Amino acid sequence: MSKEVTIDWCPDKSSKTALVHQIVQYITKKVYRGDWLIGDRLPTQRALAVAFDVNRSTISTAISELTISGVLETTVGKGTYVANNTWSLLVSDKTPNWKDYIEKGFHQANLPTIQAINKYEFDDDIIRLSTGEVSPELMPQDLFSEIFQQMSSEPIAFNYLEPLGLEALRTELCHYLKKHDIHITEKEILIVSGSLQALQLVALALLGKHSKVFVEEYSYVKSLKVFEFSGINMKTIATDNDGPLPWIIDTSTLREGTSILYTIPTFHNPTGRVMSHERRVELLKWCQKNHLPIIEDDAYRELYFDVRPPKPIKSMDTSGNVLYLGSFSKSLAPGIRIGWIVGPESVIERLGDIKMQTDYGASSVSQWMMTYMLRSGLYEEHLIQLRTRLKERCHQVLSYLDTYFSNIATWHVPKGGFYIWLKLNRAYHTDTLFENALKNKVLINPGFIYTSKNSSHIRISYSYASMADMEKGLQILSKIIREL
Ligand SMILES: Cc1ncc(COP(=O)(O)O)c(C=O)c1O
Repeated sequence: MSKEVTIDWCPDKSSKTALVHQIVQYITKKVYRGDWLIGDRLPTQRALAVAFDVNRSTISTAISELTISGVLETTVGKGTYVANNTWSLLVSDKTPNWKDYIEKGFHQANLPTIQAINKYEFDDDIIRLSTGEVSPELMPQDLFSEIFQQMSSEPIAFNYLEPLGLEALRTELCHYLKKHDIHITEKEILIVSGSLQALQLVALALLGKHSKVFVEEYSYVKSLKVFEFSGINMKTIATDNDGPLPWIIDTSTLREGTSILYTIPTFHNPTGRVMSHERRVELLKWCQKNHLPIIEDDAYRELYFDVRPPKPIKSMDTSGNVLYLGSFSKSLAPGIRIGWIVGPESVIERLGDIKMQTDYGASSVSQWMMTYMLRSGLYEEHLIQLRTRLKERCHQVLSYLDTYFSNIATWHVPKGGFYIWLKLNRAYHTDTLFENALKNKVLINPGFIYTSKNSSHIRISYSYASMADMEKGLQILSKIIREL
């Protein structure tokens, strides 16, 4: 699918080469090397002038030159595109047709809306109302400096590590998981580069043609393509306010290939919901009886405000039915890229083998850092502060919702996690809403990216933007909704 190209360069104003010529050379090179593909759209001339930091007239001259030489084509009202009869492809018989390769790859591209979110999250002028990570202000910056100083004072082997990850970290994680009633040995846990990688490893190692992954109606994994390749099918299972209802699955369909159920029982992404203890018991019992393994994604467990959430499903698993995922991304910092997966030894060994073939292990710097944080108790200390601050932020954002959304939407009051799942009272085209919000410099995660159906939901997150920005952004969003 064609996309809008990104400009990541500016002409050199001190150079003797004319600005127009530099721009022509830059665009020609991008097309010639296959970075930009036939059909890709260029930003508007106004946006190009800003990106290149030059006058509109310079842009218009460069585009005319490139159009005349056949590199670009411009259609009135539609914009400027990389041309179909691209000059670079005609003059060069060396350029491979990357478009063909890209289209044939196993993994599909992200949804355009997700690509836009990933891009605009790095625009400083934009208010991020939905971002699912902690703001730098909630990270323990002093602690990070202390740890790096401490680490630099001792000789540490930053070599490749053993296939399952640093043993010292696995030992610390075994102690840590005991507090959640999960009793395992170091051979039952694999350190991964973020829990998303654990999902990729599961897909690569355990699933294939005709495999089915059963997921809740709204789910984090539906915003990704992690379970959509090699003939794996994602199937939605009926869900109520307490989570999935697998007993509605036709059990005869389970026999056609390997199947697995993926769930986020605690502070669910995107709905914020927490599954009750009773439902966890029922779910595990049914899945055990029907030989349906469960992937329990527990990335948000530690972020409770007052009351601890019910015990993990894994803590009740006596038959190796549950693969348990954890991460430091939500509770500390996603850039550390450390998560883990717990499961039967045979599965962990295979996933570890595939991880070695994929990236030779997660960052050893991060693994040493997390070993130190867990061993010293500093991680637990940080969690106490984080919970208090997230709770304060949540209350503040709920008060803004009361002010700006009380007659246009409904929502639940979270007991932890990052998210408020806003349900708009009327059915809007949330893709139009997304675009209108973006035009007003407000970025939202619309509900439709988490489901295959239409959705009148928006995921609001109180973990990232400043409270002043949250109020401003929610006020703008409320105005846009009222005017739609
Ligand atoms: C439920 C859930 N699992 C996993 C992840 C990814 O976490 P990681 O950064 O550990 O890969 C996210 C991130 O949004 C998430 O919401």
